[in-house]
Amino acid sequence: MSPDALTLRSKSLAPSNIALVKYWGKRDVALNIPATGSISVTLDGLSTTTTVDFRPGRERDECTIDGERDGPGAARVVKFLDLIRSTHAVDARALIESSSNFPAGAGLASSASGFAALAVACDAALGLNLSPAELSVLARRGSGSAARSLVGGFAEMRVGESSDGTDSHAVALAAPDSLDLTVFVAVTTREPKAVGSTEGMLRTAETSPYYEAWTQATTRTLDEMRAAILAADVERVGALAEANAMHMHATMLGAQPPLLYWNGATVETVRAIQALRSSGACAFVTIDAGPQVKVLCDSASRDGVRATLDEVQGVLEVIESRPGPGARLLEAR
Ligand code: PMV
Repeated sequence: MSPDALTLRSKSLAPSNIALVKYWGKRDVALNIPATGSISVTLDGLSTTTTVDFRPGRERDECTIDGERDGPGAARVVKFLDLIRSTHAVDARALIESSSNFPAGAGLASSASGFAALAVACDAALGLNLSPAELSVLARRGSGSAARSLVGGFAEMRVGESSDGTDSHAVALAAPDSLDLTVFVAVTTREPKAVGSTEGMLRTAETSPYYEAWTQATTRTLDEMRAAILAADVERVGALAEANAMHMHATMLGAQPPLLYWNGATVETVRAIQALRSSGACAFVTIDAGPQVKVLCDSASRDGVRATLDEVQGVLEVIESRPGPGARLLEAR
């Protein structure tokens, strides 16, 4: 590509998402193709903003994430840029600045919003003109869950069948306001998780005796979750999401060595929400590869959930969100 064709600089914003049916396992590690589909809700207000600036003549990529220059996350970003450069015949190196407005590395999917934002920004800056499906495939190469953050509202990640992964991308299932859903994030630590998701997935697939049952159950749950979302049945969505998260954590606990992502406050939060539900609230938990608990509830249960989470010892912060729009370009020039 000639340097003249470059827009050079662009800025994007991508939201985080929470999986309602989780992805935990890969069918192709090199191409980062998931072993199963997944379904998520894109979260309003929890986002990553990324600026990329490609300059012909720049010697190397320089990457600043949440104020830290060339820190631990930079190598993954450079690898992602190398993939784009090799696929699209680009030489230029980039200056990247990325910041998230929520704690990174603790199960809040900063890699989802981060790689979705990076894919959108690179597409614009380099004039790649990727289709929504191609953009989702590109984001997936950075992080599997990032493929879903391109899409607003409720998104389904298709597992796909092709060996090159071109049909493994997210599609929209339902608009953000189609369900009466509030999502609370109960932050129980600000420390990064000990075992990253790729390492955790590989360990689980190789050593957990429950892995095959997990992938089979997930495939069935996808059909049930899709139907519950399309029926706008928040109670059913919550119940399916909670069960799916528990199945994933049970499968992780079966790995050797076991993957225990929870802390004490995680357990207390789960118990508190289950007790609230026994008293009639429509409230359910889901937990990713980290100790934060996300609570899914309807608007009638919202105040009760907030008051309950405020009382749980060890919950450091409670963030309220709801379904929101997908990734978007903020500036290009
Ligand atoms: O996209 P990754 O590699 O960060 O993996 C995401 C794994 C989970 O958050 C646990 C589940 C999911 O589908 O988001």
